[in-house]
Amino acid sequence: MTQAVGVEEIAGAPATSGVAVRKALLADVPAILGLINGFAAQGMMLARTEFELAENVRDFTVALHDGAVAGCGALHFYGAGTGEIRSLAVHPGRQRLGLGRHIIEALESEARAHGLHSVFAFTYVPDYFARFGYLEVDRQLLPAKVWKDCLRCPKLQCCDEIAVRKLLTGEGVEPPVSGAELVSNGTIILPVVPLVRPPG
Ligand SMILES: CC(C)(COP(=O)(O)OP(=O)(O)OC[C@H]1O[C@@H](n2cnc3c(N)ncnc32)[C@H](O)[C@@H]1OP(=O)(O)O)[C@@H](O)C(=O)NCCC(=O)NCCS
Repeated sequence: MTQAVGVEEIAGAPATSGVAVRKALLADVPAILGLINGFAAQGMMLARTEFELAENVRDFTVALHDGAVAGCGALHFYGAGTGEIRSLAVHPGRQRLGLGRHIIEALESEARAHGLHSVFAFTYVPDYFARFGYLEVDRQLLPAKVWKDCLRCPKLQCCDEIAVRKLLTGEGVEPPVSGAELVSNGTIILPVVPLVRPPG
């Protein structure tokens, strides 16, 4: 019952193309796991467990090609204003068909619907994100909570991912975000947040 899970034919795609995007379901977890961990084995992505994916499956959008899950991507919120586009992966046999583009567009629509002012990503393919208006940024400008993933990354001490960000609001004015600093011994220094006591 594809209707029930909100499958959307891609606007502008030929009706026969067999390409669609929808929010992920729990039943998609094995397919998503296969996509992500296939690339993780090549050092291109951070490996995920089945438990982690099940826990976060509502972050995910999947692209279907001829009815099968052929791509995925997730929007993970960091506070009320920004979110991370992550776990973007398209099956090696289904690349260059526009699936990645459709996933990014769906995740950006979702971000806009939630009122986010920006989305960001850590990536080895900044040129790909640049096609969609993402600009390289200093990773230390990104929310502190992002760094929790870094702690379990095998490349913690030699990270070569590039941080990119896209403003969604159009005003070009970025609200301040909390920063974090990763020092050479792997320690993460989080920003000090002043405590505001309620009156009385
Ligand atoms: C990067 C990735 C998601 C792209 O997905 P895709 O479905 O093949 O990309 P699309 O078909 O949407 O490509 C859209 C456009 O970007 C171009 N493009 C594709 N991969 C590109 C890359 N690595 N760098 C620059 N441009 C790229 C395509 O040629 C296409 O151009 P066109 O619109 O002029 O035809 C896919 O190659 C992938 O899964 N890579 C391995 C995992 C990975 O690196 N994920 C990113 C983690 S943040």
